[in-house]
Amino acid sequence: MSDYLPGLAGVPATKSNISFLDGDKGLLAYRGYSIQALAQHSSFEETTLLLLKGELPTASELQAFDELLRRDRIVKYNVREIMKNLPATGHPMEMLQTAVASLGLFYPGDSSENTEEQSFAMATKIVARMATTVAMWEHIRNGYDPVLPRKDLSYAANFLYMLKGEEPDPELVRIMDACLILHAEHTINASTFAALVAASTLASPYLVIAAAIGTLAGPLHGGANEKVVKMLEEIGQPEHARAWVEKRLANKEKIWGMGHREYKVKDPRATILQKMMMDWADKRGSVSPLFETALVVEAICEERLAEKGVYPNVDFYSGILYREMGIPSDQFTPIFAVSRSAGWLAHWREQLKDNRIFRPTQVYTGYGERSYVPVARR
Ligand code: COA
Repeated sequence: MSDYLPGLAGVPATKSNISFLDGDKGLLAYRGYSIQALAQHSSFEETTLLLLKGELPTASELQAFDELLRRDRIVKYNVREIMKNLPATGHPMEMLQTAVASLGLFYPGDSSENTEEQSFAMATKIVARMATTVAMWEHIRNGYDPVLPRKDLSYAANFLYMLKGEEPDPELVRIMDACLILHAEHTINASTFAALVAASTLASPYLVIAAAIGTLAGPLHGGANEKVVKMLEEIGQPEHARAWVEKRLANKEKIWGMGHREYKVKDPRATILQKMMMDWADKRGSVSPLFETALVVEAICEERLAEKGVYPNVDFYSGILYREMGIPSDQFTPIFAVSRSAGWLAHWREQLKDNRIFRPTQVYTGYGERSYVPVARR
């Protein structure tokens, strides 16, 4: 009998040269470039191209890609009509999965016959429209027509413009851009694994991304950022944090935004996001109560959970930043998906280059052979 490892912990599912993670040292790099350097110096456009192609682009390569992303932002009105018919009360992750799958109806492509250029063009089309659909939904679900995308704005700026319907603050654009970079790729996490499994069947990239979106939605994965903010709001103020955390741990419940399968130290993305939050608070001259509570929760969790290697993950501080930017909490995970589409598509392309369908086995724990009993005799 083969060894069974619940959750496939520590089991390599593929060979990949897209990103590297050292969970004991708290290191993360995309294509060899540290996440710190990328968050500080790169843009989401450049990082996406780095992930998709493997190298930092030249200025002209970046400009050409940026133009494609700007051109492909617009979404056909049929997709808008589909979105208008979805219930406004539905979760935006369900909307996003539907919207991306329906985009595939308009841009059919066969993954089994893709050239390198065709798969790159398809990936570009998807990344370009991810932010559009998330921003459109904010208006549609509130009963308004969506704001049309603008070609004169960067990816992050256009997303904020479409979401809010007003000229975005450059400071917030930079924060959003860094958030998009930080969430763009993260080795073989659950949603990327789902993308790989779908990719290995040669499904279309739209369906690959739809599979990944569904997997990201859960609170043990990307959905945790929404849960973190709900948790901090429930705690209410820093003085209530200890009792809340203790009760939760006593009930053997998880603290949202804490812990990671791979990291046994603080997630480097959490450190960067926390610093961004602090710098922004300094500039504004005020610290939000949510952030103050988060700092206390982190300190208590360090006391109680460090021995298990449980520290803040990326979702602990991202939601607080988005909340401070005035973004509704159920849009946090969709924003994560917008960004992660770059990594998912890089893995899709990598999988197709050396594909073998994923078909694991199981350890059967059911009955041996039994005689069928007709319903009248049961
Ligand atoms: N709060 C409290 N305890 C936690 C914890 C958390 N958030 N995360 C892990 N632990 C504890 C577990 O209870 C377990 O303790 P035990 O050995 O005494 O039973 C130990 O740490 C190992 O946790 P486990 O759930 O087995 O780790 P995993 O690798 O299977 O799960 C996560 C990883 C991310 C799913 C898990 O840490 C979690 O649920 N975190 C909260 C959700 C979240 O923030 N997800 C976003 C991830 S980016």
